[in-house]
Amino acid sequence: MRFVSGMLFTLGMLVVGGAAVVASGLVDMSATRPPSALERLVGSVLADRSTARRAPRTGNPLPGTPEVLAAGLALYRRDCLQCHGAPGVSPWGAALGLNPSPPDLAAPDAQEGSDGDLFFVISHGVRMTGMPGWATSHDERELWHLVAFVRHLPRLAPAEKQALKAAAEAARR
Ligand code: HEC
Repeated sequence: MRFVSGMLFTLGMLVVGGAAVVASGLVDMSATRPPSALERLVGSVLADRSTARRAPRTGNPLPGTPEVLAAGLALYRRDCLQCHGAPGVSPWGAALGLNPSPPDLAAPDAQEGSDGDLFFVISHGVRMTGMPGWATSHDERELWHLVAFVRHLPRLAPAEKQALKAAAEAARR
């Protein structure tokens, strides 16, 4: 009995202590300040587990043909390039002030999940980061076009790199 009441007391103190830290304003939520290691860990585990639980198990229903990749490039150039950049293109404008910063989608970290994981994150975004959910403005086919193009990012042809670079230069002007 004493053990149980001791446990309850400790638990209560933890809840009260946690609430006091939150209420005190000690945690700096400014975007210009990098998140602590604990915040980063909790945020990334939450996002990864949430995606793993909800993402479709199917692969991309679209074939990786030049037409699909061209359509994906056009969508990516319009909606994603500014924040995520691409091989040879760095993000610009508002994307530089985001925290967490938008990851390089050609990097192994972003490529390691399944097509279903990419589809889920692109469709629904990531709450409390700058990553929007695109299912509100894009139909399912367009979302799979984007998945196909994100998968293709590490292997862009010179003409594709050039097209993205030209778009970024025009937008920055
Ligand atoms: C306004 C900026 C912004 C735009 C525009 C944007 N993203 Fe993101 N995106 C982010 C941020 C910030 C994250 C990091 C979220 C996090 O830390 O969990 C992210 C994360 C992602 C991830 C997960 C990467 C990983 O390593 O898990 C994918 C995939 C992604 N975005 C794809 C896209 C695609 C495709 C588009 C265009 C349709 C797009 N994003 C547009 C800001 C943006």
